[in-house]
Amino acid sequence: MTETTTFARVDEVPAGLRDAMTGYLERAATHPEIQRVRRVAQDALELRPGNRVLDAGCGLGEVARSLAVAVGARGEVDAVDTSRLLVDEASRRLRDDPLPVDRAAIRYTVGDVVDLPFDDATFDAVRCERVLQHLAEPDRAVAELVRVTAPGGRLTLVDTDWESLAFDGLPDELVGRLRRRLWHSPVMSGRSMGRTLRSRLIRAGAGEVRCEPVTLCFTGPEDAAGVVGFVEPGTLEMLLAAGAPVDPAADAVFAADWAAAVASAGSDLLTVLTIWVVTGLRG
Ligand SMILES: C[S@@+](CC[C@H](N)C(=O)[O-])C[C@H]1O[C@@H](n2cnc3c(N)ncnc32)[C@H](O)[C@@H]1O
Repeated sequence: MTETTTFARVDEVPAGLRDAMTGYLERAATHPEIQRVRRVAQDALELRPGNRVLDAGCGLGEVARSLAVAVGARGEVDAVDTSRLLVDEASRRLRDDPLPVDRAAIRYTVGDVVDLPFDDATFDAVRCERVLQHLAEPDRAVAELVRVTAPGGRLTLVDTDWESLAFDGLPDELVGRLRRRLWHSPVMSGRSMGRTLRSRLIRAGAGEVRCEPVTLCFTGPEDAAGVVGFVEPGTLEMLLAAGAPVDPAADAVFAADWAAAVASAGSDLLTVLTIWVVTGLRG
């Protein structure tokens, strides 16, 4: 494997950080703004009953469930993730809360998006959400996703453009410090991924590539923290510590300043972030 960020090695990070990361996935999944992004992505896939679909980097596996609804009992859903822990958790949730019989069966499998365990042209539709930003070789992954898509099939990539992150209600100087510190951390190495999806898909040979940038808006710290985790007190420290810090004392001061400013902004805090949904056809 060739990944770089903590989400690229979920099973290896300390338990406290892993719990924070799974908690983040859980909160994001139920956040109305992420649900809005997912509706755009699902519409873009144009699924039909009977389709075979792949969700690559499936996390806790909830998107696979909505794919199973869309493709119906004659369809098939494969959901793959490198994390054994997340795949086991997704499988457990499916066992505890099975889908109605008129839905497609879902298979959760451990697998790497840069080396997928599927033959060429296996799927009618393929999606990959907020995974490429964590990889050292995202173009290898995109090529692999194109490989497993059938000719004429659709491929939808969803990823964040962290550099689009903007705030109202925080001092400019503090936001500048956040950018200078975080953007140079290895944990944010894929921070511009969203806006690069179009060119990556085109380079990988996909045709009719369409972009839908979705701009998310959050009011207050709690609302934002469901998606922009580091707005929350404590999470910024964890993120900075996970990124091989050069000056932990300076990071502690910065994190304290950040937490104080976020608390004092309260409901005046406005957070804006763009997530890109980009779809192409395999020729
Ligand atoms: C931010 S999470 C997004 C999960 C899910 N797509 C979602 O939207 O909730 C990133 C996911 O990518 C998975 N991942 C990271 N590197 C991967 C790889 N090389 N192949 C497959 N999955 C990978 C992680 O284990 C994690 O579940």
